[in-house]
Amino acid sequence: MAKPKAENKSDLMEKIVSLCKRRGFVFPGSEIYGGLQGFYDFGPLGVEMKNNLKRLWWDWMTREHDNIVGIDGAIITNPKVWEASGHLKNFVDPLVECKKCHHRFKADDINAECPDCGGNLTEPKVFNILVPTQLGVIEEEKTSAYLRGEACQTIYLDYKSVLDTTRLKIPFGICQIGKAFRNEVTPGNFLFRQREFEQWDLQWFCRPEEMEKWFEYWKSERMAWYKSIFTHPENLGFYQHEKLAHYAKKAFDIEYTASPVGKEMEGIHWRGDWDLSRHAEFSGQDLSYADLETGEKFIPNIVETSGGVDRAFLFLLLDAYCEEKDPAKDGASRVVLKLNPKIAPYKIAVFPLLANKPELVKMAKDIYDSLKTQFMAAWDDRGNIGKRYYAQDEIGTPFCVTVDFDSLEDKKVTVRERDSMKQERVEINELAEYIKKQLN
Ligand code: GAP
Repeated sequence: MAKPKAENKSDLMEKIVSLCKRRGFVFPGSEIYGGLQGFYDFGPLGVEMKNNLKRLWWDWMTREHDNIVGIDGAIITNPKVWEASGHLKNFVDPLVECKKCHHRFKADDINAECPDCGGNLTEPKVFNILVPTQLGVIEEEKTSAYLRGEACQTIYLDYKSVLDTTRLKIPFGICQIGKAFRNEVTPGNFLFRQREFEQWDLQWFCRPEEMEKWFEYWKSERMAWYKSIFTHPENLGFYQHEKLAHYAKKAFDIEYTASPVGKEMEGIHWRGDWDLSRHAEFSGQDLSYADLETGEKFIPNIVETSGGVDRAFLFLLLDAYCEEKDPAKDGASRVVLKLNPKIAPYKIAVFPLLANKPELVKMAKDIYDSLKTQFMAAWDDRGNIGKRYYAQDEIGTPFCVTVDFDSLEDKKVTVRERDSMKQERVEINELAEYIKKQLN
């Protein structure tokens, strides 16, 4: 499906930000106090869409793959975790950040130009990206801790407990969806670079000699998953990192290449034995894996897939946004979010053709009541039917159901499909099955 090139990229971003606020997807955080840079709230439609997205990811990880279980770890951990993970040491140098690509460089390593993209640099600053917090109630006795800078660390901390309480054998995975916090030097570009955001991570534990095989496997699995949910899968690609994070031996990003801001959506990282070896060293615990069949003991190696839920959310909206002419309406234009129906906040909307005809309203309300327990459903009886269709198109509702005067006689309703705008008459008592089938 070709994406209409009606708008330039920064216009598109502005349109998405405005649509998100106007229709209740995303609100700027603390707005009545003038906002707080890098923080956002998800509104009534946004939280539905985000939950749909997270549910898809979770089910795909834990049900469509063998040997993967989930956890939900704490946001605050013992502060030693961040010493062991390398985050304390690696984020306290004087750094400059490129304002364009957001890569950071040690101030000592750099002259005037950013080696990656030629963007302007911030002044050198000594900073730590971890967000500190304090625990305890007595002022003089407070202890310092950090909000987690990456969600994955709790997976390493729980790896032994997971092994002890399940029947998992290597290779196996532990997955998690959860918040991470970073004192970004340059938060911005809406959801793209926030200070509080959500990550979906898989940590795949395998034998060291099988790293290459599993790295390639997860690279292609994750790309296939993203391709299955984007409106224009041709807008997804890989980027291989040359500059690597302190823990990574090899790293690829899955990118949304049509992005008007940064492109990175998910990192596939070869973490090797870095994390478990460091936590074994710093905690003094034995974190090796004992293979009962062969009698071997070794530190498992890790392939990580770590994606940004908020970035995927933003890219899906950018990818689905479309302005087009409605041939049925003499060239009037409509805005439509051609979201994958599984992700769309509402699956159906139900309308009476006219709001002042009680017999139509009653029949439509009964249909709405019977559908809303099975599907996320919207009700609308304001304005004319054309405006109601457009209001649903703009938030990506795949099906609209209208009760008209014929419905009272033939017990059928008009079902209008979002993208094709095709209308079909469907028996009321077959409606739920019809929608279920279309959604799948
Ligand atoms: N555990 C590895 C890790 O955290 P990362 O590349 O720093 O790796 C993974 O982060 C993903 O988290 C990124 O690909 C991006 O989608 C998302 N992410 C990172 N920083 C973010 C921020 N400030 N705002 C929104 N999402 C962010």
